[in-house]
Amino acid sequence: MSDQMYNEIVMDHFQNPRNMGRIEDAEMLIQVGDPGCGDSVLIFMKIDNDVLVDVKYKIYGCGAAIATSSMGSVMAKGKTLDELLEFRAEDISKALGGLPPEKEHCSNLIASALHAGVIEYRANREDPDKEPLPER
Ligand code: FES
Ligand code: FES
Repeated sequence: MSDQMYNEIVMDHFQNPRNMGRIEDAEMLIQVGDPGCGDSVLIFMKIDNDVLVDVKYKIYGCGAAIATSSMGSVMAKGKTLDELLEFRAEDISKALGGLPPEKEHCSNLIASALHAGVIEYRANREDPDKEPLPER
């Protein structure tokens, strides 16, 4: 895959991904994978008062998956949980100045991880006795 296919913003986020890493005391961690390509992301969400105060991730994926996770994490930080549920993969690729058509779907990875994290977090709060998620 040649680097030429990505614009400068995408290349910047791919080469210098923001917010990569882990959060030891995260309220929620959740892994989402794409069975199509085998790529996956594990995100750590620090949630306070229904606001995503910090987010980090570990990713196994293509360049576009890394760039979209980086941009997605930047955009998601500071959002309320309700806002996160409205957050779309298209918003991420738009903020990156667009992705090649065959790479558009890569932004789904971080977007669906954030959605799943919010849903799981809320479910856990409704049922606090539920077993915590095993670390994966
Ligand atoms: Fe699924 Fe690229 S093929 S994320
Ligand atoms: Fe798998 Fe991009 S090809 S996330």
